[in-house]
Amino acid sequence: MFTDQTVSVVIGGTSGIGRAVVSALSARPGTVHALGRSTGLDVSNPAAVARAFAALGPVDHVVITAGSQAPGGSLTALDLVAAKAAFEVKFWGSVTAVQAAAPHLRPGGTLTLTSGFLARRATPGTFVKTAMNAALEATVKVLARELAPLRVNVVSPGLTDTEAYAALPAEARQAMLDRARATLPVGRAGHPDDLAKAYLFAIDSGFVTGAVLDVDGGALIA
Ligand SMILES: NC(=O)c1ccc[n+]([C@@H]2O[C@H](COP(=O)([O-])OP(=O)(O)OC[C@H]3O[C@@H](n4cnc5c(N)ncnc54)[C@H](OP(=O)(O)O)[C@@H]3O)[C@@H](O)[C@H]2O)c1
Repeated sequence: MFTDQTVSVVIGGTSGIGRAVVSALSARPGTVHALGRSTGLDVSNPAAVARAFAALGPVDHVVITAGSQAPGGSLTALDLVAAKAAFEVKFWGSVTAVQAAAPHLRPGGTLTLTSGFLARRATPGTFVKTAMNAALEATVKVLARELAPLRVNVVSPGLTDTEAYAALPAEARQAMLDRARATLPVGRAGHPDDLAKAYLFAIDSGFVTGAVLDVDGGALIA
């Protein structure tokens, strides 16, 4: 139940999937805070994250989508410093945000994290994403027990057309989307709004906790 007093926070809400969640939540009563480095919050800085939640006061729903970048390529050629930096943002940043947010969550509150389909798909050259997303999916199940009756879930997106791919040359980005069209059972890549629905489902569904919600166009069965 959303009221004018409901407070939601989306870390990563300044772009892509997180921004679509902000927009969906903004259609409901209450306040939505979209946070990211561009609004002054870096999840790899635990003191800053703790300060941000202390300043916000009581909150109802926290969504974390921060951290879409990770180095690819085979392990033999991998830049381990970059790999650890990716973990620092996505895995440890998510854990940091949960630790900072949990004491401020009102009864009935939710935390919804983000993993990715590579967590359970063995694809050469992607082990950093596989490892950090799998770690998050395992962690969420433990946190859902530790923090109960707060509910903790994770949404696992498939390929979704967002700013995360802005650095790709236009042709490579188009080729990636064409591949999704050709190979995914749903015949297309995801749109941020497809994903936003899953975060709202996790927030709204009082019987769902410790769940991994696959919203991937069928990537794991293709
Ligand atoms: N798009 C896909 O195909 C796909 C597939 C599988 C999984 N995912 C996962 O879905 C999530 C969202 O991806 P997206 O495609 O929406 O990415 P995106 O458009 O690049 O958005 C990432 C968001 O994270 C924020 N962010 C990045 N580093 C941060 C930091 N250190 N501290 C705070 N905020 C930070 C960014 O905001 P600032 O720049 O303002 O910091 C931005 O709002 C990610 O976890 C990604 O791994 C995406």
